[in-house]
Amino acid sequence: MDQTRDLTLANALLQGLREPALLCGPDGKIRLANDALAPLLPGAKPGSLLALCLRSPDILDAVQAVLKDAPRRAVRWHERVPVEQVFDIELASVPVETIGRCVLLTFHDLTSAQRVEKMREEFVANVSHELRTPLASLLGFVETLQGPARDDERARTQFLTIMGEQARRMSRLIDDLLSLSRIEQQEHLRPTAQVDLTGVVEQVCDALSTIARANRVTLKRMAPAQCIITGDRDELIRLTENLIENAIKYGSLPDQDSMVEITLTQSQGQTVLTVRDHGVGIAREHLPRLTERFYRANAGDSRAKGGTGLGLALVKHIAMRHRGRLEIASTPGDGASFSVIF
Ligand SMILES: Nc1ncnc2c1ncn2[C@@H]1O[C@H](COP(=O)(O)OP(=O)(O)OP(=O)(O)O)[C@@H](O)[C@H]1O
Ligand SMILES: [Mg+2]
Repeated sequence: MDQTRDLTLANALLQGLREPALLCGPDGKIRLANDALAPLLPGAKPGSLLALCLRSPDILDAVQAVLKDAPRRAVRWHERVPVEQVFDIELASVPVETIGRCVLLTFHDLTSAQRVEKMREEFVANVSHELRTPLASLLGFVETLQGPARDDERARTQFLTIMGEQARRMSRLIDDLLSLSRIEQQEHLRPTAQVDLTGVVEQVCDALSTIARANRVTLKRMAPAQCIITGDRDELIRLTENLIENAIKYGSLPDQDSMVEITLTQSQGQTVLTVRDHGVGIAREHLPRLTERFYRANAGDSRAKGGTGLGLALVKHIAMRHRGRLEIASTPGDGASFSVIF
């Protein structure tokens, strides 16, 4: 009777925890398991042996140690199936008068923290690398302007132009990074507005008409009069802009007229936006990596054209937030085609 009362109280406490937790008795059998534990260890039910549910020698050793005399233990637990997960398991001794010495196991999920940590490391390395070049060039010009070129009017004008470009480059990099992180943070929230993609394409083509002309590119549009999807207008503008801008920058041919085709189709609940160019195309080995942050197929060319390698990463995340996907196809020598399927 008393034992039931003890366990009822303990169970209420465990259920009140947000983290997965279980209470293991002196015989190595699970006495209690809270609901939060079920998705993680479906087999962990009161009455079953802990050793059969959690096949980790480290944890079982720690359980034995706490059952014997250790007050607390902490063990890191890596689970690889079905998905990779990492937990810190805290073990604490819980004397229950009617049962004996029990162990409380609480599971702290470190999975996202570790993923974030890995991304952070890569990210810091990339950003510093991207900022170092324009910064070094800016500092070089500042020194030249303070020293040898102090009184050279012509050099000053020329250097200030380059310095302006470098500063803009850094500022664009930071803008792109901020948008990327904002979109990522909201990725799980579905946009709700009704947006006319035809209007978006029109607006973007108008905005890019100057650089299209400069690259001798004709923007050919094929779209229904209206093409409504559920989305976020600003993000869809960014997505379209990145694709068309890339097609103009990398899909045009030097000293030659060329064409970029932008197609919108809508049928059976599926909307497809395709941007196709007729440039040099992209070698097969680059295709799977194009949407990685800072990845460029031809780094020198892209940098010369003011690219930071974040455009397609943005496109991919925007597409994902819209429950869409990006497909890239290219035949080297015959241009590339980027489709977003909503
Ligand atoms: N239409 C295309 N034809 C050939 N190569 C392309 C095309 N679109 C993209 N690429 C290649 O993919 C790379 C990544 O593109 P992405 O838009 O992510 O970066 P970027 O254009 O270099 O920089 P940003 O978009 O940030 O200004 C580009 O550097 C380029 O090498
Ligand atoms: Mg781009």
